[in-house]
Amino acid sequence: MRSFSRLSLCLVILALSLAACAVTPPAPASQASQPTAGPSQPTALSTLSAVAQPEEEVPDVRYTLLTGGETGKLVFIGASGDINGVENPTLKADPGDVVEISVINGDGIAHDLAIDEFQVNTGQLLQRGQIGKVTLKVDAAGAYAYYCTVPGHRQAGMWGTLQVGEPVAAASGESVVRDPSDLPPPIGDREPTAIRVDLTAIEVVGQLADGTTYSYFTFDGAIPGPMIRVRVGDTLEVHMKNETSSAFAHSIDLHAVNGPGGGAVFTQTNPGEETSFSFTALNPGLYVYHCATPSVAHHISNGMYGLILVEPEGGLPPVDREFYVMQGEIYTLQPYGAQGQLDFSNAKLLGEAPEYFLFNGAAAALASDEHALRANVGETVRIFFGVGGPNFTSSFHIIGEIFDRAYSFASLTTAPVTDVQTVTVPPGGAWVVEFKLDVPGRYILVDHALSRLERGLVGFLYAEGEEHPEIFSGTPTDGSGH
Ligand code: CU
Ligand code: CU
Repeated sequence: MRSFSRLSLCLVILALSLAACAVTPPAPASQASQPTAGPSQPTALSTLSAVAQPEEEVPDVRYTLLTGGETGKLVFIGASGDINGVENPTLKADPGDVVEISVINGDGIAHDLAIDEFQVNTGQLLQRGQIGKVTLKVDAAGAYAYYCTVPGHRQAGMWGTLQVGEPVAAASGESVVRDPSDLPPPIGDREPTAIRVDLTAIEVVGQLADGTTYSYFTFDGAIPGPMIRVRVGDTLEVHMKNETSSAFAHSIDLHAVNGPGGGAVFTQTNPGEETSFSFTALNPGLYVYHCATPSVAHHISNGMYGLILVEPEGGLPPVDREFYVMQGEIYTLQPYGAQGQLDFSNAKLLGEAPEYFLFNGAAAALASDEHALRANVGETVRIFFGVGGPNFTSSFHIIGEIFDRAYSFASLTTAPVTDVQTVTVPPGGAWVVEFKLDVPGRYILVDHALSRLERGLVGFLYAEGEEHPEIFSGTPTDGSGH
């Protein structure tokens, strides 16, 4: 495998050399270079460019990448100078440089290379040895993703970073993750009563991913906001505060309300102020609440959503564990994976093109040891699952489990559907799902629109207890426990 790859690389270099020789002058400078064959030839290029091209088109830095490689992985492999042999190497340049990136098809599978911010693409490279090239002038410092646009290839790992200027230091912020076990206990069997609910809008620079922060909007500092748990017939007096330090007004619209705006018309709250209103919970169910201050989509995507459970008379059937999980999207100017403090992009919000998908506020938060869901074999688990969104319907699924009972669209007054693999949860909607854990191991919470897993949308549920080989047995082939 190794020697075969070397051979093909040699053939490719040979093909490159031939291609370079075949160019008849005066060729554009960008076609006459020999990216893989050692140092560039600035003198000759300058002469050529003086004839054919403006001075600024002469590359200051050149890189060559080879697609695929010895392992058969979907990656770019460095094939010049410092980056030789490095998988998905970071390509460095200074602001103002002209950068030339050559791509050689090294595996015979269709690939290309694109960088969105500069609107460059090599075009499809279909055959082994085929070469494409992009030339771009990089003015602004920053980290830009180069990647293969063939569907699935970026997600499989075919991307890297073009670093212009010094990398931004990894950023750290507060945790905005609501632990999925942080929810109120069941109401039990009691009469309707009056309840006061206090919520505070808090704008916070929070940890979005490793080394990456974002300016969130939250209810009470965490995402989702606190779960409100009442029973049908309760009268709620909702108080909405907005911190003095906030830059925006905020409000609350609860889908459990019968009345215009769901409360939003009474609760538009400026920084440093407090508003309130009352409502009686007439309909049992699990309802989304969210900020409803324009632009509402912006406030929701930034984290202002939560769930209110209105239990039916007599409550829900008892279970061993309950969890609280909500899905949302973050629209950043910088691409997924960029380090530092990221900026909100209204264009991406309006284009419904999020960079991040999240459970409980941060990338892969519920896959961390700190916030994973934990239960024991033999226990019955209930998940209150909602979508804040604001835009994407979730195909909520747990890899390795079947929902024994699922309350359709969180209707608690109809019998749950049984034996369901995946539920469709709309933005501003919720489901309640229940299942018994039969065997130990790690179960994976996903939206079965699985591209989103590559953008941070994943959680783990660990089940501890005795094996039950009569239900599940075998020898793991990949060590994933999946
Ligand atoms: Cu808001
Ligand atoms: Cu709504």
